[in-house]
Formats: sequence, structure tokens, C-alpha cells
Amino acid sequence: MTVLGIETSCDETAAAVVDDEGTVRSSVVSSQVDLHAAYGGVVPELASRAHLDLLSVVVPTALEQAGLPPGPPAPVDAVAATVGPGLIGALLVGVSEAKAMALAWDRPFVAVNHLEGHLFAALLDHPELRWPLTVLLVSGGHTLLVSMQAPGRYQLLGQTIDDAAGEAFDKVARFLGLGYPGGPAVERAAAAGDPTAFAFPRAMLGEGLDLSFSGLKTAVVNAVRRHPDASNQDVAASFQQAVVDVLVAKTMRAATSSQAAGVCLAGGVAANGPLRRALTDAAEAAGLPAYLPSRAMCTDNAAMVAAAGRWQLQHLGPSPLDVPADPNLRLPLMA
Ligand code: KG4
Ligand code: ZN
Repeated sequence: MTVLGIETSCDETAAAVVDDEGTVRSSVVSSQVDLHAAYGGVVPELASRAHLDLLSVVVPTALEQAGLPPGPPAPVDAVAATVGPGLIGALLVGVSEAKAMALAWDRPFVAVNHLEGHLFAALLDHPELRWPLTVLLVSGGHTLLVSMQAPGRYQLLGQTIDDAAGEAFDKVARFLGLGYPGGPAVERAAAAGDPTAFAFPRAMLGEGLDLSFSGLKTAVVNAVRRHPDASNQDVAASFQQAVVDVLVAKTMRAATSSQAAGVCLAGGVAANGPLRRALTDAAEAAGLPAYLPSRAMCTDNAAMVAAAGRWQLQHLGPSPLDVPADPNLRLPLMA
């Protein structure tokens, strides 16, 4: 079953094709970074308009790169799109386009949860993995520790009680004047800094599986005000180290408490080099495999949407054409 996936939940316009075997045949991502950079963050209305323009290029390119004709007749067996969570206007563009194509091609439409898409990204690169998995899902809007028993079977082990990890990266980057998007900018600055220069707090490190990042963000602001001469590199490196220490410690504790057969990363922050290295080392020390999706599969893309859509269609069937876009959609959890 060949599935076209469409992703427009935030500031990446993406389309991808996954084939009968679940192999990614094409994955096209058009980033709107340049468009939003001048504003220091995503401007929702601009994002929606850009999705509208870019989809008409990105979708045919994804089909072409997969070696498929543009249609009609239908070049794929189904069309999947992210229906939430995300920016409502941005979501609506992709959802409407996907429904229109499904209707015109007389093929099923599949409504995909963006968070579930991120979880499927890890599976794409690692078909050999064993269950259950502890997945740390760290993106711009979410920080979740999930026990994945199998595709479609998720238990929430912990989550942030305030800011998402990616949000903390973005806010600190903005405060330090490092630019947008914040995560890669902080990682670049941190590479030349001393991670021990500032002893930033590791909130809730010793307790439970929930996380908190808003105090860390405030600590960074206070430290820079107290030490105006401090180098951005040292602040960035110390901040990043504090985030990584907490994320890795919580993930390993979650893995132990849920008797995981492996640990896994997902979401944009999972592209962070020091986080990937630290989790790999911690998992190795615990005798557990660490499954890291490639960096391109961590940040928003449509291959993960097509993969989740393909599984969903096979196991749960198609979605009705009147399913709405939902900016606050949650990860579906096991009862
Ligand atoms: O999953 P994603 O692409 O979009 C959402 O679903 O939110 O995640 C975006 C987030 C942003 O906060 C961005 O700053 C962060 O992921 N990010 C990173 C890195 N690359 C992206 N954070 C730390 N290090 C990175 N290399
Ligand atoms: Zn995402």
C-alpha cells in the first residue's frame, strides 16, 4: 500500500511517499525558516499562506521523486495528513489539500496525529527494534515520556509541567540573540562554550518522571543579567548541558520503571548532538539499545506522517472526510 503523507502543522511544508513495504520513497521538506526569521519566531498567518503556495510544489516533487505520475488516475493508494496538534490555519491547509486529493482520486483519507507521527519516525529507521520502548518525545510544543508497547499502544509515563524542551531552547536563543530556530542556534553556540561555566538548575532531577524547564529559562536570564560579560557560548553550553542531563536521567529512569527493551528519541530536539550522544552512552551503560532516528526524521517531515498513516489505514481503517483539524489534539493513550 503506497501512501502520500502531508505535513503542515507548523513551519515546515512537507510531503512524502511510503511504499508497499513501508520504505520511504521520497521525503520533501520545504522550510519556512527564512520567512519567519525576521520576526524571531513563527507567524501563524504567514505560515498558512506559505503552506498554500509551497504545497503545490512540494506534493508533485514528492510524487516525482518517488517515481510516480502526478495523476489522475491516483498515483497512490491513500492520502494521509497531520490533523493536529499544531497551528489551526497551517493544519487546515494540509488537511484540506489531502482531503481534496483523496476525493479527486477516489482514495481513502487518513487523519494522522502529529505526535504519533514523531513516534513512527524512529520505527522507520529501525525495523528491528523490540518492545516495549521508552520514547522521549521532545519537540517545540511537547515533552513527553511515552512507553510504546507496540504501534498504536502508548502509555504516558511523564511530561513537562510547564515549558516544552524545544520551547526552552527557542526562548533562550531569543534571549541571547542567537536567532531562530533556537535549538540549532544554541547547539552551534554551545559547541564553542564551557558546559560547566554556569551551574544551572536541573529541576525535579531526583523525583518522578515529570519535567520542568521554566525555572531553567529564568535562571539563564538572571545569570546573564548578573554577568553581562559572560560569553554567549558558555551560557548556551551550560543551558544545553542542564537540559540534556535532565532529559537523559528521566528517560533512563522511565526505561527502568517500565522495563523497556530499549530507549528511543523523537521530535525536533532529538536532532541535538549532545542529547543523542548522552542518551546513547547512558543506554549503553544500562545495557539497553538506543534507537535514534536520523536528524531529518526527528524534525518535522511527512515521511513520519505517511508511515503512521499507512499503519493506521491497515489496522484501524480510513478516516471520515469530515474529521476536523484539531490544534490541541492529544496523543491517543491506552485505557
Ligand atoms: O518536532 P519539531 O520540528 O516541531 C514541532 O513539532 O514542534 O520541533 C521543533 C523544535 C524547536 O523548538 C527547535 O528549536 C527544536 O525542535 N530543535 C532543536 C534542534 N533542532 C530543532 N533543539 C535542540 N537542538 C537541535 N539541534
Ligand atoms: Zn513536530
